[in-house]
Amino acid sequence: MALRTLVSRKTLRTSSLGLRGLQTFSLPDLPYDYGALEPAISGEIMQLHHQKHHQTYVTNFNKAIEQLDGAASKGDASTIVKLQSAIKFNGGGHVNHSIFWKNLAPVREGGGEPPKGSLGWAIDNHFGSLDALVQKINAEGAALQGSGWVWLGVDKELKHLVVETTANQDPLVTKGPNLVPLLGIDVWEHAYYLQYKNVRPDYLKNIWKVINWKYAGEVYEKECP
Ligand SMILES: [Fe+2]
Repeated sequence: MALRTLVSRKTLRTSSLGLRGLQTFSLPDLPYDYGALEPAISGEIMQLHHQKHHQTYVTNFNKAIEQLDGAASKGDASTIVKLQSAIKFNGGGHVNHSIFWKNLAPVREGGGEPPKGSLGWAIDNHFGSLDALVQKINAEGAALQGSGWVWLGVDKELKHLVVETTANQDPLVTKGPNLVPLLGIDVWEHAYYLQYKNVRPDYLKNIWKVINWKYAGEVYEKECP
């Protein structure tokens, strides 16, 4: 009887693991054509950036999660710890790029139109003007050494705007648990080199022509109703 109880418990546990499944991630579609942001960002850059770079983060994130699942089920602590950097890098790459695509819009669909409503007011109050904010983001983005991101975010507890940079593929939340990204600009060379070569400031200057402030405003209003 004892053996039967043991077997049935084991069967139940295996079955529930099998039913649990593993959530994996996939490359989101762009909400516009690759060439739709020209001349600010070339179609060639957009296609490579989305199909190759972002896809690679997604692929490697899924691999790391599968390995994590295997290591956790075996109680392999050292492998669990070893996987953390791959999860942060590739998961961060997926999170950041998924936001980045939504931060851009073709000019004919409102790209580059200044923020309206409460985000417009908040920017004027906090930074003095939209131009002052753009200058600050461009300066911090240009000064960031190596690869990374420059962000406009909102602290959802304090309800105030922040400009931050993060290295590599670190998401904004690594700078504070209450920070929500409104706008993230990718300053990795892969985001601009084919068109702007090494001149990151020119890329930063032109990207504002296709920034989707409507999206940033919607996130802001959700976090600061
Ligand atoms: Fe990128």
